[in-house]
Amino acid sequence: MSTFAVVNISELVTVAGPARPRVRDEMRELGVIRDGVMIVRDGIVTHVGPRREIDLPAEIIDAGNKVVMPGFVDAHTHPVFAGNRADEFEMRASGAIYQQIAAAGGGIRSTVRKTRAATEDELFAAASRYTQWFLYGGTTTIEAKSGYGLTLYDELKLLRVIHRIAPLRTVPTFLGAHEIPDEYRGRRDDYIKLVIHEMLPAVSKLAEFCDIFCEPHVFPVDDARRVLRAAKEHGLKLRMHVDQIENSGGAQLAAELGATTADHLEHTGAAGIKALRDAGVQPVLLPGSVYALGSKRYPNARAMIDAGLAVVLATDFNPGSSPTPSIPMILSLASTQMKMTPAESITAATINAAYSLDRGSEIGSLEPGKRADFVIHDCADHRELAYFFGIQSAEDVYIGGSRVI
Ligand code: NIG
Ligand code: FE
Repeated sequence: MSTFAVVNISELVTVAGPARPRVRDEMRELGVIRDGVMIVRDGIVTHVGPRREIDLPAEIIDAGNKVVMPGFVDAHTHPVFAGNRADEFEMRASGAIYQQIAAAGGGIRSTVRKTRAATEDELFAAASRYTQWFLYGGTTTIEAKSGYGLTLYDELKLLRVIHRIAPLRTVPTFLGAHEIPDEYRGRRDDYIKLVIHEMLPAVSKLAEFCDIFCEPHVFPVDDARRVLRAAKEHGLKLRMHVDQIENSGGAQLAAELGATTADHLEHTGAAGIKALRDAGVQPVLLPGSVYALGSKRYPNARAMIDAGLAVVLATDFNPGSSPTPSIPMILSLASTQMKMTPAESITAATINAAYSLDRGSEIGSLEPGKRADFVIHDCADHRELAYFFGIQSAEDVYIGGSRVI
């Protein structure tokens, strides 16, 4: 039982608002309270308001006249893998292309080989290092995908690692259909049967969502439909990698299946955006992967916001296309490359992300009844989070009212 107040806050960015994902102009409303105070009891926010209106408890945290805001919610990450792909990064810097490297046996499959060879404890040690990076960026919850095992044994190993991650909050996603592993090359249908008949029944207790890499050269739309229908029958909710490399109607499939999110969407056009809107699917935009692959093809965030979609921003942290755990870096890219305002970007990486994980009533804003997952950032104005880039602005990070950084 503990009660404390956070005081001396230049901007208390509550992100308070209606109890649903935010759309259109709502994304610009951050519920900022100047010279605010927040009271936390037993890990839960009990009060936010202006300083003068409230009696304070004995225990006080002085925020140093800085910004206090919800911890970021990163709704798309691949944090459990062995080794890294700095070698392929160097090859790309010398002119090689991501898809060509993958076709030659590199890419996801090279990380799969290393990850299969690693023990659960080795993977946990690597993931723990990365989870510290998330915390230092001001992130307090991540969605975490498997997908570098691609056997039943190894996918379960990755999901168990995800369940061991702490104190960062995690939401586990099964991504057995991330790639066709080496031993199934040329036999995609056999691998899909393995995913449907052996993996899905076994992983459904360890995962909340099922994801798939839906692209014509990996899992085309018709195969993705089979896998995801089976996933739904096992009680899993759906997230999907779609239209990253080309537009093959992935967004329409997400709409057809009632997926919770459709992610990437670099090549999605007006028809796909309309389908997402009509079906209430949240788009998860991943500009870190566009940047790190050296592409200029960012998703059309403005068209999505104008259409009334509850846009989410995430890092896509992974060893290939997006080796960053930093939401502040993503906020910078969103403003400079996709013309999202800092406020829209913060909404996309907090409350909208929380709703996309079915956690909107627990996290993503600082309002009475919500978990006290909050961060003191070394700035006086929330716009500085997207404006300065390449710095570490999160100073103190709290999860459930306990300081973790
Ligand atoms: O979201 N596109 C598929 N999955 C990841 C990349 C994974 C990798 O390259 O290891 C992504 O970009
Ligand atoms: Fe991804």
